[in-house]
Amino acid sequence: MPMPSTVQLGTGQLAINQSFSIAVTGFQDPRLKRGVQRFMSDLSRQAGMLLTQSPAQSSSPTLLIHADHASEEVQRSDEDESYELAVSESNAKLSAANPLGIFHGLQTFLQLIAPIGDGFAVPVVTIKDQPRFVWRGLLIDVGRHFIPVDVLKRNMDGMAAVKMNVLHLHLSDNEGFRVQSKRFPKLHEMGSDGLYYTQQEIREFVAYARDRGIRVVPEFDIPGHSRSWFVGYPELSSSPGPYKIEPDGPNSVMDPTREETYKFLDKFIGEIAQLFPDAYFHIGGDEVDGQPWDANPQIQVFIHSHGMKGNQDLQAYFNQPLLKILTKHHKIMMGWDEILHPDLPKTIVVQSWRGQESLATAARLGYSGLLSFGYYIDLMWPAWRHYAVDPMADDAAAALRADEKRRILGGEACMWTEWVTSENIDSRVWPRTAAIAERLWSPQEVQDLGSMYARLGEVSWRLEWLGLTHRSGEFQMLHRMAGTDDISALRTLADVVEPVKDYTRISNVKGPWDFRAPLNRLVDAVGPESDPARRFGDLVERYIQSGYKDRAAAREIRTLLTAWRDNDAKLHSVLEHSFLLRDVIPSSSEAWRAQQLARIESAREAKADLLLMVATPVERLIEASASQTHN
Ligand code: ACM
Repeated sequence: MPMPSTVQLGTGQLAINQSFSIAVTGFQDPRLKRGVQRFMSDLSRQAGMLLTQSPAQSSSPTLLIHADHASEEVQRSDEDESYELAVSESNAKLSAANPLGIFHGLQTFLQLIAPIGDGFAVPVVTIKDQPRFVWRGLLIDVGRHFIPVDVLKRNMDGMAAVKMNVLHLHLSDNEGFRVQSKRFPKLHEMGSDGLYYTQQEIREFVAYARDRGIRVVPEFDIPGHSRSWFVGYPELSSSPGPYKIEPDGPNSVMDPTREETYKFLDKFIGEIAQLFPDAYFHIGGDEVDGQPWDANPQIQVFIHSHGMKGNQDLQAYFNQPLLKILTKHHKIMMGWDEILHPDLPKTIVVQSWRGQESLATAARLGYSGLLSFGYYIDLMWPAWRHYAVDPMADDAAAALRADEKRRILGGEACMWTEWVTSENIDSRVWPRTAAIAERLWSPQEVQDLGSMYARLGEVSWRLEWLGLTHRSGEFQMLHRMAGTDDISALRTLADVVEPVKDYTRISNVKGPWDFRAPLNRLVDAVGPESDPARRFGDLVERYIQSGYKDRAAAREIRTLLTAWRDNDAKLHSVLEHSFLLRDVIPSSSEAWRAQQLARIESAREAKADLLLMVATPVERLIEASASQTHN
């Protein structure tokens, strides 16, 4: 995963054993060498053997690697990432135009290795592979909750494993400014809780990304979402302040009417552009609250004296000097779809988040764009729902001409972190993001859900080898909540609940949302998608479809229902024992005792921001068996 564009499976296999060796011919450089070394250590770990052959020593290697030429100095968005991998019973050959393709091919090779009883092997196969879209990104919002460098790094390892190539960092928002600025130190000092990346750390993770064929695109969200700038520099804002990084403190947006705003941005972007070598620079531009502009008489005079119709025109005005500044610092402007305005040249890139139509509209008008609508992984959707979203498949995109379609560069999964911390981010990103990675890499026809879930399950545990904690992190959190070693009953419940969907959690908050609150409840620990609940639902369908004749399915259903019923008694003492778990009690009790539809209805309602995912299949069973009785 992602499924390669072409796979020809042969017969037989190539054994992977102690004598495994690699040779590298063609282009070589230290980065490629490090990539090959990482591959060797991944392979050693996976196959449980010490592989001692250093590359290029062997004249008839098990794996021959050949890259034609170097990658670009700074990775381009349109660089060749294709590779060919040919495995026979005696050896394997991996070739690519440049190291990017080699990195991807090595990941494919690792995924092909399977245990064969007395060792490991890779099947005989010929793979010719290339991405469908050039831009396959993951956005991580480090503004709402800071995500430390080591967590970014392991997530980049995950991205590389599924061939994603853009890490988009949302580096500032109302809740925090996360980059050290030497020119304007009050940005990170006063605009954060002390958690930010030093310039040295930025250089370090940008280099780490480059080693893995990943571009890092910085985003500083302006003129809205920018309170953290105003704590240290209130003169940038449209209202007097003062500002604090606090949930119920005043908020504002930047003042586009003052020359000084642009002087500041020019110096700031000049400094930051050096840290992020990528050609693209994201300026946000989303959800600009016009109220501070409406309330400022000077800004109103400016709007009228410049013949503007309103706040949208003022935002478009703001973007013009901003574009000049970015161009001066050799950056291409990117922004959310709100920046789309006929006054801006076609060189800008539009990231569509409010709907798929804006992507097609942008492409028709001549702008390049990428899709994030449908890829918001903070909304806790199941993988199949993201997988079904295709940048080219909605009516508007499908109706584009070929040249317009080429302007659709790809997409980005978006990890907004209002309800995410460094402790649980892995479980929000993985494994679902691998399904989005496949949508953006593999041919459009690759759509089979059974195959996707089978491969996603496999990729999921493989990703944990890289240091990701999307599975293991949950147990640590459950232990802490329960305050005991035996969490088996709690795990049984945790396995079949999911966090509430969409924006339900934030709308359940009474009073201002306090982003400083610890995220340490059951809803924060459990994954976004319950595999046992999905399998139970499939089992129930199988049973009903068989006309109640599938005895094996019936037995399995009965076993599960009985286990869940009996779990409740064991669970109660754990739940009552813990302050952090007490609000979960109704999720357990009502559910397992539900024998009537009214009870099921109640079990389906969210409690403690959790949804019981087996309620619907149980309801299907009850309804189906009721209608059977009537017949
Ligand atoms: C966004 O979600 N406001 C880009």
